[in-house]
Amino acid sequence: MSKNKNNETIWGSRIKKNTSTLFRKVGNSIDIDKRLYKEDIAGSIAHVEMLFKQKIISFKIKNKIIYGLNKIEKEIKNKKFEFQKKYEDIHINIEKRLFQIIGEEAGYIHTARSRNDQVITDFKMWIKSATKEINNNLDRLIKSIIKLAEKNIYTIMPGFTHLKNAQAISFAHYLMAHVEMFNRDKKKFNSNLDNLNENPLGVAALTGTSFNIDRNYTSKKLGFKKPTNNSIDTVSDRDFVLDFLYAVSVCSMHISRIAEDFIIWNSDAFNLINLSDKVVTGSSIMPQKKNPDLLEYLRGKSGNSYGNLLSMLTILKGLPLSYFKDLQDDKEIVFKSNDTLIDSIKILDEILKNLSPNKKRMLELAKSGYITATDLADYLVKNHSMSFREAYQKTAVIVNFAENKKKKLNELSLDELKKIEPKLNNNVLKVFNLENSVNSKKSYGGTSFDNIKKMIMKYKKQK
Ligand code: ARG
Repeated sequence: MSKNKNNETIWGSRIKKNTSTLFRKVGNSIDIDKRLYKEDIAGSIAHVEMLFKQKIISFKIKNKIIYGLNKIEKEIKNKKFEFQKKYEDIHINIEKRLFQIIGEEAGYIHTARSRNDQVITDFKMWIKSATKEINNNLDRLIKSIIKLAEKNIYTIMPGFTHLKNAQAISFAHYLMAHVEMFNRDKKKFNSNLDNLNENPLGVAALTGTSFNIDRNYTSKKLGFKKPTNNSIDTVSDRDFVLDFLYAVSVCSMHISRIAEDFIIWNSDAFNLINLSDKVVTGSSIMPQKKNPDLLEYLRGKSGNSYGNLLSMLTILKGLPLSYFKDLQDDKEIVFKSNDTLIDSIKILDEILKNLSPNKKRMLELAKSGYITATDLADYLVKNHSMSFREAYQKTAVIVNFAENKKKKLNELSLDELKKIEPKLNNNVLKVFNLENSVNSKKSYGGTSFDNIKKMIMKYKKQK
C-alpha cells in the first residue's frame, strides 16, 4: 500500500476522532454493496468523460482516471482487490484504490457528484440488469410449463373451488394459467423500466451542481433515457426499489400458489401428481417418506419477499427528504429478494421437469363429486327451454337423488332421470362424459381442447 494522505477516511481533516468501533462495524456496507462494482466503475467512467467533454477536467486526467478504473475492475474481477471495511462502501473503496494507482489526480473524480447520486445511479443500473435476468429466467420457466402442458392437453382432472370438486378441466389448462401469471410478472418488471431509465447522476448531494455538467451525455452513455427532473426528489427517491420489491413479491406469490397446489396434489390423500426422487427429501425417522420440501421452500420464501417489501416501505415512511443513512439498507433488501426469486424460479423449473401427473387418479377423482352437474344444468337450458335458475333447481334435485341412491350422475338410468324431468331423452347421457364436459367450454379462455392448443401455439411463438 502506498502512503498518501488519502489512505485515511475522506472526512479525516474535519472529523478528528476515530469513529467508534461499534459504528464502524454496523455503518459500513462494503460486504453488501461490492456487488455494484461494475456499475460504479461504468458510472465513474461516464462521469469523467463528461467532465472532460465539458472542459471541467483535462484530457490527461480523464485518461489517467479511466486507466485506473479499468485496472480496478480487472482486479475485482480477478479477486485481487482488497475490499476494506474502514472505507465504508464500494464508492470509497474504489476511490481510495484509484489514489493508490494514479496518485493525487484521482481527486478529480468526485468533481460535481456525491455518493448520494452515485449510489442510486449504480443501483438503478443494477436493478435494470437484474430485471433482464429475472425475465430470462421467467422465459425458461414459461417454456417448461408449456412443454408439460403440451403433453397433457387431454389429461382430465377436477377443477377445484374451495378445494371441492367443481368442474372438469384439462391439466394443461391449469398449467397454462401460470403462463398468464408469469407473463404478467414479466410485464410488471418491464413496466418498472420507465422509472429506472431516469438518470440520477449529476444531482450531486441534493441541489445539483455549479459545474457546467451535461446530464444528457451521461444518460446516453449509461443507457438511461433522460436525466431525472428534480435533484431533491432524486436523492430521496427509492420508489424504483419499491417497484422492484413489489414485482418480486407478486412473482414469488405466484410461485407460492403453484407450490401449494402441488403440495396438496402430492399428498397421499389427493395423490394427483408424482415427484421424482430428484426433488423430494426423506425423513430422519420415517423410512418410507418422500417429502416435497422444495415446494415448501418455494411457498415459504414468498414470505421473505413480502417482508423485504414491508421493510423498505417502513424505512421510507416519514423519512424527511433527502439522503439519510436509513436508505443504505435498500441494497441488502433488494439483493436478498432478487437472489431468492432467481433461486425460486430455477427450483420451480426443475420441479416441473421432474413432475408427472397421475392421470388415472386424476380421472378417478374427476368422476366423483357430481362434477358434471353444471353441464346438466346448461343442457337443460339449451335443450328444454328452461331458465338457468330453473335448470339449476332441477339439477340439484337430480344430484340429491343420486346422492341418496349412492350413485354417480352417469350411473343414473334414463328412467330414473325422467322421473324427475320427464322431458329428458337419451341425449342427456352425453353431458356426463368428462371429455365432452371439458371440451364444451369453448368460450374464449375456457378449457376446451382447441382453446388450449391455440394458447399453447400463441405462447410458443412469443419470445
Ligand atoms: N453507501 C451509501 C448508501 O448506500 C452511499 C451514500 C452515502 N451518502 C452519504 N451521504 N453518507 O446509502
